Amino acid sequence: MSILIKSAAEIEKMRIAGKLAADVLDYIAPHVVPGITTNELDKLCHDYIVDVQQAIPAPLNYRGFPKSICTSLNQTICHGIPNDKKLKKGDIINVDITVIKDDYHGDTSKMFYVGDVSPHAKRLCVITQECLMLAIEQVKPGCTLGDIGYAIQKHAESNRYSVVREFCGHGIGKNFHEEPQVLHYGKAGEGEVLQAGNILTIEPMINIGKRHMKVLKDGWTAVTKDRSLSAQWEHTILVTETGYDILTIRPEET
Ligand code: MF3
Ligand code: CO
Ligand code: CO
Repeated sequence: MSILIKSAAEIEKMRIAGKLAADVLDYIAPHVVPGITTNELDKLCHDYIVDVQQAIPAPLNYRGFPKSICTSLNQTICHGIPNDKKLKKGDIINVDITVIKDDYHGDTSKMFYVGDVSPHAKRLCVITQECLMLAIEQVKPGCTLGDIGYAIQKHAESNRYSVVREFCGHGIGKNFHEEPQVLHYGKAGEGEVLQAGNILTIEPMINIGKRHMKVLKDGWTAVTKDRSLSAQWEHTILVTETGYDILTIRPEET
């Protein structure tokens, strides 16, 4: 089995969708401060996506998800639902943005520090971002999904962190989630082989404590079982003839 190869026209649309998703993270950054609620962040992002970008926030009503973005605070691993609780100094929060433009999806997330954050929380966020970038650097035609998972697992575990197993990256295009599943752990050289024209997300979720999670009664919010802090970073990646192109890259990263 091989992973869907996108046409040049599809890749062009994915570039646009990816850029829009990245732009939302830059737009929201100055608003992620102590005292704001995640519902306010949700409304700001929703209105920016709909009114300015003339795009669609993909999470809204996706399998019953009630909001336009995911906001995952502290011990929340992913799929946090925006609410009326105020952010406070010292929090770390993942904001995950997925937009649909001209039928194609762009999906990206990053960690924000709310005011001053403890060194151990910062370290988790930095190492998790390094896990994502080390995985992305693996990407080229002939690389396997196992190479990606291995790069993440090796870096996380050598820093005494754990890799969440229940969620993975994914192919992306006209659909939010397509084949293949991109595991964030694995063995180098194993699994499906990537080819130019594949587009997928890589989105490692890394915990300070044990890897285990539970989902809250709302049916979405995934938290660490031991209540340790968790971090996640995500990009949408195109496999090119020579390597990769990060479709959701932000100016701060170049
Ligand atoms: N954006 C998430 C991902 O990276 C998926 C969120 S699904 C939602 O795959 F319904 F919670 F929005
Ligand atoms: Co994703
Ligand atoms: Co996402």
